[in-house]
Amino acid sequence: MKAVIIPGDGIGPGIVASAVRAIEAVDAGIELVEAEMGAGAFQRTGSYLPEKTIELLKDVPAALLGAITSPISYNPSYRSPLLHLRRTFDLYANIRPIRRLHPSIGLVDLDVIIVRENTEGMYTGVEREEGEGVVTERRVTRRACERLVDRAIDICQEQGRRRITCVHKSNVLRRSDGLFREIFYERTKGTGLEADDLLVDAAAAALVSQPENLDVIVTLNLYGDILSDEAAALTGGLGFAPSANLGDTLGLFEPTHGSAPDIAGMDLANPTAAILSAAMMLRHLNMSDKAKRLERAVMETIAQGFRTRDAGGKLGTMEFTEKYLEVLGTV
Ligand code: NAI
Ligand code: MG
Repeated sequence: MKAVIIPGDGIGPGIVASAVRAIEAVDAGIELVEAEMGAGAFQRTGSYLPEKTIELLKDVPAALLGAITSPISYNPSYRSPLLHLRRTFDLYANIRPIRRLHPSIGLVDLDVIIVRENTEGMYTGVEREEGEGVVTERRVTRRACERLVDRAIDICQEQGRRRITCVHKSNVLRRSDGLFREIFYERTKGTGLEADDLLVDAAAAALVSQPENLDVIVTLNLYGDILSDEAAALTGGLGFAPSANLGDTLGLFEPTHGSAPDIAGMDLANPTAAILSAAMMLRHLNMSDKAKRLERAVMETIAQGFRTRDAGGKLGTMEFTEKYLEVLGTV
């Protein structure tokens, strides 16, 4: 089996190196092929997403990405390579498992998986001047809702999660979000899952005040973007938050954070989100036992008190990785 590794920019290469060592340590038996993307790729090849990378991705079921740096100044010809990948491979579901790893990290005992629509909703990018203002097109389609909810149901079943909550704003957006809510109940009927729904504002509050009532959340693009950052902050921050972008052929796994230029090259980055993203990749490749081992070792490393700076500790990326690999050898 083959997978593509894209180190990217800034802290990307360092944290991806940690994740690759973790994958190798559990003998996953995957051939890892390195590819380029991002600002470094642009400097070397003139493209943020070289054709060669797209070709490599067409051949594999999964890829692990560090992070990329986007240009700071406005450039009308710039196309986000991540958006390009999402469109090319129709990566329609964004999955973010968010879990507090230890009582000393974060604020709330959350353990949720947020399944977010990734192709439409508020992020169509279609805006036009009209009269005195700007009108933004927001799209909700039956097909996108159906496949999103089906994916979320699969995740519940694969991971033994019992409860699924649809998050929407159908009291105001009656037709669009109303359609999403209706499809949610259609598709979850007869699955044996406990299905309920929440308005997005109530869901934002429930993440803080009733975390025990939340298990798997399925939601539209904008709501998922905001709720997942909230949930990550409640459980210890970006350094711990992995994610997956899933289509029907390719899964792209990446930490939620960006390339952190403020700490790049300083050996300060927390590699946990990258390692947990690698675990999600192994699960996607039907290696759940190895995925669980990577995750157990993360819990155990944190429980033993090893911490990078963002989590209040003193260890650098490399030292933390060495401790992690030692622990991984014991779980
Ligand atoms: P960021 O996530 O890179 O950094 C935000 C803050 O969190 C910074 O203070 C950073 O030092 C800290 N941080 C992030 N990851 C960390 C880790 N693993 N360990 C310790 N501290 C960590 O977001 P920012 O600064 O808004 O964006 C930086 C660049 O990354 C931009 O060019 C942005 O476009 C890009 N970006 C890329 C993403 C991707 O590749 N998927 C996602 C988000 C941003
Ligand atoms: Mg975001």
